[in-house]
Amino acid sequence: MSTVDAVDLGRRRFLTATATVVGGVGAAFVAVPFLKSWSPSERAQAAGAPVEADISKLEEGALMTVEWRGKPVWMLKRTEKMLAELPTLNDQLLDPRSEMASQQPKYAQNANRSINPQILVLVGICTHLGCSPTFRPDIAPADLGPAWKGGFFCPCHGSRFDLAGRVYKGVPAPSNLVVPSYRYLSDSRVLIGVDPETA
Ligand code: FES
Repeated sequence: MSTVDAVDLGRRRFLTATATVVGGVGAAFVAVPFLKSWSPSERAQAAGAPVEADISKLEEGALMTVEWRGKPVWMLKRTEKMLAELPTLNDQLLDPRSEMASQQPKYAQNANRSINPQILVLVGICTHLGCSPTFRPDIAPADLGPAWKGGFFCPCHGSRFDLAGRVYKGVPAPSNLVVPSYRYLSDSRVLIGVDPETA
């Protein structure tokens, strides 16, 4: 879906194009043309205005990405099997109970690191040096070994995260992947960048 709004700001005419792609690809904000000064709404977008994601078509086991504050934000719809696997990994993880408060809001400081247990929302940036890990839901692939239960693998220096974004021990990344603030507008619409209690 896309909308184009023309905004007349006195002598200057700003065009703001907002393109939102739903169903697995994400949302992006583009301001055209770029003029010397921005309107307040353009500044708000660059500073990190909330981004809405439609997860109605997200299938079990699938991941979609939206852009927020210039970063990828993943939404993964976990299967029952994926959720059941999480507690079995705790001994292998650096912060299995999400005790490092900086890595998630309070409402995601739980066993699944999410509001709705099935839907994981994560900033897709490695907490080592900022690469974007790859989504590897496959079980025991040859390159990750027989113990791999599915998760995220960072190809830059080999950090590993489980399907809640929790970092494994013994890898370069020092902390779990970040859960951003977010709230549900409905069962299938998630607003990223806003806490539930402040929205
Ligand atoms: S940036 Fe991911 S392991 Fe180094």
